[in-house]
Amino acid sequence: MRTLDDITELEEQYQLATYKKMPVVAERGEGVWVYASNGERYLDLYGGHAVAGTGHCHPHVVKAIREQSEKLLFYSNLVYSETRARAAEKLVSIAPDLLTKAFFCNSGTEANENAMRMARMATGRENIITFSGGFHGRTADAISATFLGKYREIGKPNVPGHLKAEFGNIESLSAIADDLVAAIMLEPIQSMAGVKMAEPSFYRALRELCDQRGIVLIYDEVQTGVGRTGDWFFAGSSAGDGVVPDVITLAKSLGSGVPVGACLVTEAIASHIKENDLGTTFGGGMIAMAAVTATLEAIENDRMLHNVREVERYLRERLREIEQVVNVRGRGFLLGLEFGDKAKPIHGALLEKKIITGTSSDPKVLRLLPPLSLSKSEADLFVNTLAEVTRN
Ligand SMILES: Cc1ncc(COP(=O)(O)O)c(C=O)c1O
Repeated sequence: MRTLDDITELEEQYQLATYKKMPVVAERGEGVWVYASNGERYLDLYGGHAVAGTGHCHPHVVKAIREQSEKLLFYSNLVYSETRARAAEKLVSIAPDLLTKAFFCNSGTEANENAMRMARMATGRENIITFSGGFHGRTADAISATFLGKYREIGKPNVPGHLKAEFGNIESLSAIADDLVAAIMLEPIQSMAGVKMAEPSFYRALRELCDQRGIVLIYDEVQTGVGRTGDWFFAGSSAGDGVVPDVITLAKSLGSGVPVGACLVTEAIASHIKENDLGTTFGGGMIAMAAVTATLEAIENDRMLHNVREVERYLRERLREIEQVVNVRGRGFLLGLEFGDKAKPIHGALLEKKIITGTSSDPKVLRLLPPLSLSKSEADLFVNTLAEVTRN
């Protein structure tokens, strides 16, 4: 058997550098647990990079993928497919009423690129407004829309026509939201920025501004969607004053680990899209579509939205015991624990105790994006361990 060092060396020899890796060789997963090749198990409160919404290897999802793989791995949108038809119907059925059509692609960045393109097509305008602290992906248009840390710089030369406003501040938009603007796009909860939310009135004001000025409102729900906040989507939820945007983009947990992204759009947007305006070979492939349907069914069957709300409440209550946690931001299972001091050493200490959490671009914030099935006893394990590592 290869050791951690052998595997580390091999990956580093043959793979380009990407993320800073944790010293874990992940081999197997079950629910909220990830098992390493040396037999150790980790409580995964980062949910496989916010992807394992239904938990790792949910049996209903695994079964659906297995069964589909024995029938047809793939055919593109050049043919019809019952598997795709069912996924689209299911996804639209859980979306806010005004969002009636789906477009499938393969990732979050691609969903955002297509959302911006649809907004330009629908309005005949070019400019896009996004917010300081928002993250939208790493392809050219999406990274140009990302006013967070170094990202935009990495994407030079940027796509023209991207304007920045201040998250939560409607006044910062008034001057730039003119008749050249096609869309305003935002993460309704800014995750990477350190789990930042705005007041419900901000989302309402955005909706009104977009309506007055003929601008398309896009919610990037790559992280907040598919049950993460305890509602199916942030769109339409009370946290956002019930506001429904014209487009929602999704990815991450939508396929429980099978790569898939999607845009959900209104009839008005859909009416501007003709054959061949959008497309991608793999979008809407059968394995991904089987995974989407099974993911949404698993969330329903296991009453995960209810669980998220219950366990969030419990976790917040228990976190009051930890003096070093000065604030808990976010909603549902997208939580940012703000510490008085740097969070990175706590992230490291938790990892040594076999608990995986996430950091953020705010050095004092630790992020939790656990599977939606996280139980109270697993939350207890986390809080007790956090108490232990912050006491030292
Ligand atoms: C809010 C948000 N939008 C878009 C993306 C990009 O998604 P992907 O990495 O699937 O391209 C991410 C990824 O972290 C994200 O968090």
